[in-house]
Amino acid sequence: MTDNVGDAVPSACDVLITGGRVIDGTGADSFQADVAISADRISAVGDLSAMRAGSRINVEGRIVAPGFIDAHTHDDRLLLSDPAMTPKVTQGVTTVITGNCGVSLAPVAGMEPPPPLNLLGGRDWFRFESVRQYTDALADAKPAINSAMLVGHSTLRAAVMDDLDRAASDAEIVQMGDLVDAAMAEGCIGLSTGLAYPTAIAAPTDEVVALAERAAAFGGIYATHMRNEDDTVVEAVKETLDIGRRARLPVVISHHKASGRRNWGRTEETLRLITAAQQQQTVDFDVYPYTASSTVLLPEFVERSERIVVTWSDAHPDAAGRDLGAIVTEWGCSVEEAVQRLSPAGAIYHQMDERDLQRVMQFPGSMIGSDGLPHDRFPHPRLWGTFPRVLGHYSRTLGLFSLEQAVHKMTFRTASVFGLRDRGVIRRGAYADIVVFDANTVIDKADFEHPTEPAAGIEWILVNGQPVWRYGAAVDNRPGRLLRRHG
Ligand code: ZN
Ligand code: CU
Repeated sequence: MTDNVGDAVPSACDVLITGGRVIDGTGADSFQADVAISADRISAVGDLSAMRAGSRINVEGRIVAPGFIDAHTHDDRLLLSDPAMTPKVTQGVTTVITGNCGVSLAPVAGMEPPPPLNLLGGRDWFRFESVRQYTDALADAKPAINSAMLVGHSTLRAAVMDDLDRAASDAEIVQMGDLVDAAMAEGCIGLSTGLAYPTAIAAPTDEVVALAERAAAFGGIYATHMRNEDDTVVEAVKETLDIGRRARLPVVISHHKASGRRNWGRTEETLRLITAAQQQQTVDFDVYPYTASSTVLLPEFVERSERIVVTWSDAHPDAAGRDLGAIVTEWGCSVEEAVQRLSPAGAIYHQMDERDLQRVMQFPGSMIGSDGLPHDRFPHPRLWGTFPRVLGHYSRTLGLFSLEQAVHKMTFRTASVFGLRDRGVIRRGAYADIVVFDANTVIDKADFEHPTEPAAGIEWILVNGQPVWRYGAAVDNRPGRLLRRHG
């Protein structure tokens, strides 16, 4: 605790949030309290009616919570191209973890990005030879919210290897390892992989362990879109745990799921495995609150889905939002040929079971991460809806867990796993990243037909003590910072 009982409560503050009900992020019960902010920190929590304040925000009947931390994003470029971060700010998000699934915008430059790197943009966006160059661009862009970045394994492979369809040589592993060292020294919090993707599927476990060891030497973590999330998801969890044990670092399983009808129910087994492993090593996971996934459109991902919707296509931009089945019928061709004609492209894959989803979300300590894809023409609604959907649909309507637990999964839990010190909690001394919302009305409005509708019920957001969102409109402040692990 930063709180020091001996310290007198200050007599004045910059901003006083009065009359709200505080959910502090730790999972503890909510309580009635005012929250005082001085500069970028929370300076007092309690009955502060006598305190002098530069400005007051009366939020009677509302919840005051730590700003949400999006545990899994692909916002590396959005922070630069839309620094207001509208899809995230409208959900109450004050920090995003970038560089997931093996894909980071740095350090690689001057190549045509292969899928899935192209989820972040085309060749012109891959222009950062070092993480330092990227963080300089971030400082220039001045995003509204905070970010913490992972360095992506597929990005490293693209930077070092001429052919991604094979294992890296010893010399290439050393080269990638040196890039990991530099990335960690320049501000990354760990390494990510996307071992199911064509850019990394040929990488053996040993290659990943060698790079994870480099991140571990800097106190970093390992986040992974595992080698498989369908028929061999159990083996993939075992590989992940093995990597964490061998490289001696905490692991985060990204967007945990069991895909494909024949694998529905298998999260019982994976969660049992994870629970057992948690006795020996640090392992966590994030989850998004939908039964459809979204990524690049690839022939190998098509077969296990119930239904596929195109999210973008370079060759056929008008296909965005359309059902792949309908396109196949219209074109009178095979699915394979349609995929080929649409590529490079992205898609939504309807392929999970609601019971698996609820089981994974309910797991103690699971974190909420959107996995939103901000540059898709017709994106998966998770980009705009994830956090209010967990609060409004899964907690309030379905009662899957308490509001306090829901907030915990998107704040203090996430800050603890990613090592973001004094974030994700409402207490004296913590950074003033704060969201004010209406627990009775908060809900996602984005759905598969209208994927970019902003959520309802999010009223105020403050980042490092400064308002960036107020009653449905952005405030022109850009207080976001790059966060480091244990920094
Ligand atoms: Zn992924
Ligand atoms: Cu992802």
